[in-house]
Amino acid sequence: MANTAPILHSDYIEKEQYVQNPHLDNMEEDILYHLNLGTKTHNLPAMFGDIKFVCVGGSANRMRSFAQFIHQHLELPGNADDIRDICEGTDRYSMYKVGPVLSISHGMGVPSISIMLHELIKLLYHAHCRDVMLFRIGTSGGIGLPPGTVVITDKVVDSFFRPQFEQVVLGKVITRSTELDKGMAEELLLCSNELSSFPTIIGNTMCTHDFYEGQGRLDGALCSFSIEEKLEYLKKAHEAGIKNIEMESTVFAAMCRVCNLKAAVICVTLLNRLEGDQISTPHDVLVEYQQRPQYLVAHFIKKQLALI
Ligand code: URA
Repeated sequence: MANTAPILHSDYIEKEQYVQNPHLDNMEEDILYHLNLGTKTHNLPAMFGDIKFVCVGGSANRMRSFAQFIHQHLELPGNADDIRDICEGTDRYSMYKVGPVLSISHGMGVPSISIMLHELIKLLYHAHCRDVMLFRIGTSGGIGLPPGTVVITDKVVDSFFRPQFEQVVLGKVITRSTELDKGMAEELLLCSNELSSFPTIIGNTMCTHDFYEGQGRLDGALCSFSIEEKLEYLKKAHEAGIKNIEMESTVFAAMCRVCNLKAAVICVTLLNRLEGDQISTPHDVLVEYQQRPQYLVAHFIKKQLALI
């Protein structure tokens, strides 16, 4: 029978390094299967040793556009259209490197991003990277906000509004803190004020395990609740300081924290969930919304590089 007693894993095991797994040192070779990379087949320090910023987002196309945008923004040499997918041997994830910036897709939902993060963090470790910052840039449903608002996450909470991520390990529930880096969030807000191009706020983000019933939508193939129950839940979330809902941030925050990686979550809202469930905004408007977190992170990176 599953033991569900919570264990709060809030302390870092090893302060200096990103991976927290003693078994890795006994492995002759590490195959990063879903990235189509490995320690024997690739010279990871030569390929990735200079990485300082990693941006992750759901869609492969969006992360390619982000890499091209960063290439132009940092005025790097060469043609942005020639950037190639480092993971092209697999269709699980896409990865692009532009100077010190790595842009990777993670698919949808906690299991998908979690697998990618395990292999990404091992990649950073094998490549001997130092002082790396991670950003999740994505889309979300807003609560009580005009569509197009960018939310920089203060606290990541689960569907019960708890700032934690639960993972079942060997039939037991392990609970990890989802605290993010406060300094990065504040600096990102400052960057948005400097850009003054779109509304940006700092607020709490709820991460669910589903887009439909899990986010209180009435328009899925199944629905087990009334419109009143939906609104009661979303209003309670709003009272708990939750500004937006997405599907990856709990595990992103928890893994980055345990692995000593500074991290931030920046998501644009596509709709106001107090007003509806369907995303009916025109395509060109949605494309522009999706670029907003990218602009913000690009500005942040440019500022950081000027400081280095
Ligand atoms: N992504 C989500 O997870 N929910 C939304 O409502 C929109 C984007």
